[in-house]
Amino acid sequence: MTHLTNDIASFNTLEWGSTDLSAVPHLPVPPPGPASVALHARCTKHFKGLSGQVKLFPVAFESGKGCVLRDVDGNEYIDFSSGIYVTTLGHCHPKISEAIARAAHTLMNAHDFTTPIKTELMEKLAAILPGDLSGFQLYDSGTTAVEAGMRVLRAATGKGEMISCFYDYHGKTYGGVSLGHIRSQVYGRVRAPGAHMVPRPDVYRPIWKTADGAIDTDAYLAFYDQYLDKATVGDVAGFVLEPIQGWGGTIMPPDDFFPKLRKFCDERGLLMMIDEVLTSWGRTGKWLCMEHWDVVPDIVTIGKGFGNGFPVTCVAVREPYMESFEAISASSSYGGNPMACAAALASTQVIEEENLNEWATHLGEVALKRMKEMQERHPIIGHVRALGCLMGIELVKDRATKEPFDKAGALVYQKAFAKGLAWIPAGHILRMSPPIVMDEATLLKGLDIIEDAIGEVEKEFGYA
Ligand SMILES: Cc1ncc(COP(=O)(O)O)c(C=O)c1O
Repeated sequence: MTHLTNDIASFNTLEWGSTDLSAVPHLPVPPPGPASVALHARCTKHFKGLSGQVKLFPVAFESGKGCVLRDVDGNEYIDFSSGIYVTTLGHCHPKISEAIARAAHTLMNAHDFTTPIKTELMEKLAAILPGDLSGFQLYDSGTTAVEAGMRVLRAATGKGEMISCFYDYHGKTYGGVSLGHIRSQVYGRVRAPGAHMVPRPDVYRPIWKTADGAIDTDAYLAFYDQYLDKATVGDVAGFVLEPIQGWGGTIMPPDDFFPKLRKFCDERGLLMMIDEVLTSWGRTGKWLCMEHWDVVPDIVTIGKGFGNGFPVTCVAVREPYMESFEAISASSSYGGNPMACAAALASTQVIEEENLNEWATHLGEVALKRMKEMQERHPIIGHVRALGCLMGIELVKDRATKEPFDKAGALVYQKAFAKGLAWIPAGHILRMSPPIVMDEATLLKGLDIIEDAIGEVEKEFGYA
């Protein structure tokens, strides 16, 4: 690992210019500073519908380089959000920016005609993805990829019902929200016909346990059998699931869940569509998160880090389902345009050439060890988890009752941001997704900032 650490350090500091990571965070003005406040006021006079992330800390960003974000007041932050799980290889990676620029100067759109760069990307995807995942179509957002994946699922089976899980998130079009948790996005409408949701095993909050207190995955599957029989009309095409629930708060399944669900689906003629928009392309230290459990989905969506910031996403299917793309009129205006293909190909090559899946795995181990130490010192930390650079800390009012501590979550987010950590809130669950090109010292510095903020919040609420 040592030589890799040096590679990463030189990659961030030398190749990319003069950013000295040891001097970040650098906060000449308490954020949000006056320039941020003024720009934010101008912009939001017209730009509406902000996320909680921005409302809780309305700073205005000007530029980014690697793992560092700079605001319009000149403050520099450690990036623990990667945009929103997107810039997995850091901001403005030179190899990716140059590849996009080259394509932008050569050919910007040729609908779904064949191009040299698309051909290269197709062959690369077929070579690196597990099993016979070898049929692809390209899209411009996670949501459009999910919708296309669901259409393939219907076309491949001739069936219409789908089953997702409590706390899943699949984007904001009608099909996606119908299989997702967030009520405000359905907004007064009913879910789409045939959309079902069931509980799934959460290692921290199990519903069903064995006699010795372990999570009982078999009990969940037994419930799914009853559900199929009693709650569906018998027209189920398959499951549509996240491998780790990202928006839900980095919720991890037990290791036996996906292998058992694969067998469950195979035995009942159901397909397994896995939504890896958030978890793929290095985020958890693998191309696909499902590789952690040696399970090959029938259909899988890939996004976010796939183009490292350029909007490009993918639906990949196993060989037997390739022809279903023909049935769904799969092409789109922007899917697979040359800039998108250049971004995805360059991101893939960087991850491969710099062993970044291995590095992400190492960073996850370092972070988990550090978070477990934090948990020993702080009573409001109920649970900590990390797989690669997908991390979460769950805050509770009481470890025995596990009652979510939402107020503490928002306050910790704001306090850590004010100390120079740009990151993502999610109610009582603190979510972290640093770029996988981060060096170890910066990762630990970010976690120190979070621990300081947790300590201050505990004092405010009388825990310390
Ligand atoms: C698992 C999952 N699916 C789908 C989406 C939707 O992606 P997009 O916002 O690019 O449409 C997201 C976005 O966070 C996601 O996490």
